[in-house]
Amino acid sequence: MLSSLRSGVKGLWRTSARSLQTTANLQHDSLFVHRDTPEDNPSIPFEFTPENQKRADALLEIYPEGHKRAAMIPLLDLAQRQNGGWLPISAMHKVAELLNLPRMRVYEVATFYTMFIRRPIGKYHIQVCTTTPCWLRGSDIVLNAIKEATGCEVGGNSPCGKFSISEVECLGACVNAPMIQVNDDYYEDLTVEDSKEIINKLKKDEKPKPGPRSGRYASEPLGGLTSLTEPPTGPGFGLQDSLK
Ligand code: FES
Repeated sequence: MLSSLRSGVKGLWRTSARSLQTTANLQHDSLFVHRDTPEDNPSIPFEFTPENQKRADALLEIYPEGHKRAAMIPLLDLAQRQNGGWLPISAMHKVAELLNLPRMRVYEVATFYTMFIRRPIGKYHIQVCTTTPCWLRGSDIVLNAIKEATGCEVGGNSPCGKFSISEVECLGACVNAPMIQVNDDYYEDLTVEDSKEIINKLKKDEKPKPGPRSGRYASEPLGGLTSLTEPPTGPGFGLQDSLK
């Protein structure tokens, strides 16, 4: 009895002493907390322009009394667009004031979504998706090509100040992997050559044609249709005769 108790305790000890295996600790490319900097601190005033104030009022109108906080993401997006593509802390305070919310409620949203950039960025924000489908289709080499072509690291700005790169999770275009987003446009089915060509056009401030680069119109099979190749059957198809 005693010996079996001992062996049980030994077994327990072995289990608890087992070493834990962990994967590498990858950090996100932006800090989740705010640090005051000369270009981003609460003493820099932020006000919506008269046109954007009208837009903000229209956004607030959409939501009923008591649910105005639902306008937070569109308002933050508006503030970010007005501020050259990034969201300073003073703009978050402005949104909190408009929504009559504690500032913390706005910080929670602005730090959660990668669409809100909380540092000054370049004119072209390149978001490279490196989630599994894009990664399996070569997002690593696309990312390296973009880093090389822009001279920019992930989470930083290029020396010319025109480009910023972020590594992001799935952007919902996995069927056209690998893909990147530049400002509001998606570029899909990318090769290294496509990526370089896109950057070269942006360097000249030309707009590359968004969408897939493989010749596909959207996300249809590259080698032609594999299903729905016959004319659709009419109504009543497959019904037993008595129900027709
Ligand atoms: S994994 Fe890249 S778009 Fe979904």
